Amino acid sequence: MKFLINSKRGEGVKVIYEEGKFSYFEKANKKLVLKKEKTPGLREKIFEIRNIIREAKKYEIENLEIDVRDLETFFVEKGLKENVEFVVTNLLMASYEFDVLKASKKDDYKGVQVINFIFPKGQEREAELGVVEGQIVGTGVNEARTLSNLPANIINPITLADYVKEQFKGLKKVKINILVQKDLEKMKAGGILAVSAGSAHEPRLISIEYSGGGKKQKPIVLVGKGVTHDNGGINLKPASGGMLEEMHLDMSGASAVIHAVLVLAKLKVNKNVIAVVPAVENSVSGLAYRPGDILTMMSGKTVEVLNTDAEGRIILADALTYVQSKFTPECIIDVATLTGAALVAVGQAASPLMSNDDMLAKKLQDLGNESTGDFLWRFPIWDVYKSATKNKRADLGNIPETSSRYGGSINGAMFLKEFINEGQKWAHIDMASRMTSILSDNLAGGAMGETVRLFVRFVRGN
Ligand code: BES
Ligand code: ZN
Ligand code: ZN
Repeated sequence: MKFLINSKRGEGVKVIYEEGKFSYFEKANKKLVLKKEKTPGLREKIFEIRNIIREAKKYEIENLEIDVRDLETFFVEKGLKENVEFVVTNLLMASYEFDVLKASKKDDYKGVQVINFIFPKGQEREAELGVVEGQIVGTGVNEARTLSNLPANIINPITLADYVKEQFKGLKKVKINILVQKDLEKMKAGGILAVSAGSAHEPRLISIEYSGGGKKQKPIVLVGKGVTHDNGGINLKPASGGMLEEMHLDMSGASAVIHAVLVLAKLKVNKNVIAVVPAVENSVSGLAYRPGDILTMMSGKTVEVLNTDAEGRIILADALTYVQSKFTPECIIDVATLTGAALVAVGQAASPLMSNDDMLAKKLQDLGNESTGDFLWRFPIWDVYKSATKNKRADLGNIPETSSRYGGSINGAMFLKEFINEGQKWAHIDMASRMTSILSDNLAGGAMGETVRLFVRFVRGN
């Protein structure tokens, strides 16, 4: 999709907003009339912007013309540049479809090709910058969606690491470090090694360091769950209701942190940020870890495995230990498709957020809910929930000894919290509930690229 900036009318179909019930296309007058919400909130604004592309696709329109003055009610940011970036990002997200694995592409219509933005004279330069940045962000989100959508017979821990090397090639101020099985053995990463043991694919621990800030600036560290497929292990997921065919998406946290840093490096942001991904496949074999096994984690703490399907917290715990020993994080934010309980708690309209720092939590929640559209809802992690990690045979259990499912997302966070050092600012986003799009997102089905925009905005700090 190409974006042009003009101050005069061009050739395309003009996008017009009306307060009505329906959207429609007046072919003869070259007008695409879109229904407008009266008092739109952020969700509605995003929906309406994406609707430009969704409706255009329906009528196989290739060239669109949008007067930004008509978009003003949809703007959510402070400056013109930021608003254009927001609009372009969402237009790109709406144009995405996961079709790279379709050998037969069905029709001649290739989607919207050109968007001709009409700007008042004098605003073109700022708009141009917004377009460039929106394209970087929107493309990054869509690439995160593709990486997540790719099936587990293509993306395994090893090909995931290869993908990272490929994507960051040629980018300045980026250092990639990929630890393999032998390194993880030396480092006694007992959690990652145990979860990975049942898979034919070796694990990887991937780090991407982007140093756009000064040497003295502490890095923001993003940690993403990278389970390239989760069949549950010996606590095998059920054929019905286990969402087995969706479990290649269990590395969506990894996709998010990888692409957030990719976008930040492309934007040449003057901040230090690090993405770390523990990458494993959770599977069954004679070598698989078992319920009842007691693991010695990288931190030295021991964990009794009470359910092999609660694997995300085990690999993340080692990754959290790793980032605190190797770096001096300003803050750590981990993101993971951690619990089905997230869906039970909030449905698919937001992700549970847990944090030991009120300022960090508020900043993330405000950015997500008011600016980017990565909706977050905070859950408590009070000490009273600590009993969920109590264990008779080891320091911790990976699920409650009672197998209680109550407060499942909080229990996951409480386990991770046991691996956070005193005084370390930390937030945990359980994006299981936002792993795939729903109707109100107005996007193609499948992965959403959730939290990429949030992390980009958070690190940029504006
Ligand atoms: N990857 C799953 C969580 C998940 C489920 C994500 C559905 C997206 C959609 C995770 O590893 C898992 O299996 N969690 C268990 C934890 C339980 C055993 C405490 C779950 O949610 O059932
Ligand atoms: Zn699992
Ligand atoms: Zn999982």
